[in-house]
Amino acid sequence: MKTLLSAAACVVVLVSAPAFASKDLATAKGCLGCHSQGSNTVIGPGYQAVAKKYAGQKDAEGKVAAYIRAGSPAGTGTAGGPKTMWGGPMPMPANPGVSEAEAKTLAAWILGGAK
Ligand code: HEC
Repeated sequence: MKTLLSAAACVVVLVSAPAFASKDLATAKGCLGCHSQGSNTVIGPGYQAVAKKYAGQKDAEGKVAAYIRAGSPAGTGTAGGPKTMWGGPMPMPANPGVSEAEAKTLAAWILGGAK
C-alpha cells in the first residue's frame, strides 16, 4: 500500500511538473527577483506585459530566448546613455548561467503568460 501511494504521488508530480518547472527555473535563475509574473513592473517588465508585447509576432520565442541569455541591448539609460526599452532604471544584465535550452523553456513560459 505504501508503495502504491508513493507511486501515485510520483505520477502527480510528473503530471504537474511542466507547469511548475518553468517557474522553478525562473526562480532558480533569479529572474523573479526583477520580474513579476503579472503585468506590473518590478525592475524589469512583468511577464504578462512581455507576452502582450510579443503577441502574434513570428519567432517571438527565439528572439526572447536570445535576449534572455544576452541581456538588454540598451545602454544604462542614465546620464544621457541610450534609453532602456521599457523605460526602466536599468537594462537587463546578461544571464550567462542560462543554457540555450533553459532560455527556450523560459521564453515559452513567459510568452505563454508565465502561469
Ligand atoms: C537585475 C534584474 C533582472 C534580472 C535578474 C532579470 N531581468 Fe529580465 N529584464 C530586466 C530589465 C530591467 C528589463 C528591461 C530592459 C529594458 O527596458 O531595456 C528586462 C527585460 C526582460 C524581458 C523583455 C525583453 C523584451 O524584448 O522586451 C524578458 C523576456 C526578460 N527580461 C526575461 C528575463 C529572464 C528569463 C530572466 C532570468 C534568467 C531575467 N529576465 C532576469 C531586469 C532583470
